[in-house]
Amino acid sequence: MEQTLSIIKPDGVKKNIIGEVIRRFESNGLSVKAMRMLQMTREEAEGFYAVHKERPFFNSLTDFMCSGPVVVMILEGQEAIALNRKIMGATDFKEAEAGTIRKDFASSIESNVVHGSDAPETAATEIAYFFSSLDIMA
Ligand code: CMP
Repeated sequence: MEQTLSIIKPDGVKKNIIGEVIRRFESNGLSVKAMRMLQMTREEAEGFYAVHKERPFFNSLTDFMCSGPVVVMILEGQEAIALNRKIMGATDFKEAEAGTIRKDFASSIESNVVHGSDAPETAATEIAYFFSSLDIMA
């Protein structure tokens, strides 16, 4: 079993598709082990995406990520990191496969509905960014 961090981004929350996104995770073999709805401060969004600090899209991305509430979740399953990324689809929705969350709901490369950890080390760091061990269900 593996765990990964998922975020339903402000555009996903505004589109009222929290339930639909979670349904896709659950019906494809992932289980929710912790969940919170919150609005990040600018500093929290900058800290979360610190790895992208030098990218040209950093300011716009962090503006967007603190523009409204998000839902952060820990998802668990067999190969959860890769499975979550498959369910989400490519970062750029134009390149995403049919039937993926981003293909069906994203409106730009930035407003792409969901975030998912990309590797085990990132998953551990990202999970610890939002959750304490006491928040995580066995
Ligand atoms: P995410 O998986 O959350 O990781 C970084 C985010 O930056 C990405 O999804 C997009 O929302 C956003 N982003 C904006 N522009 C770009 C870009 N040109 N390339 C990659 N990611 C981008």
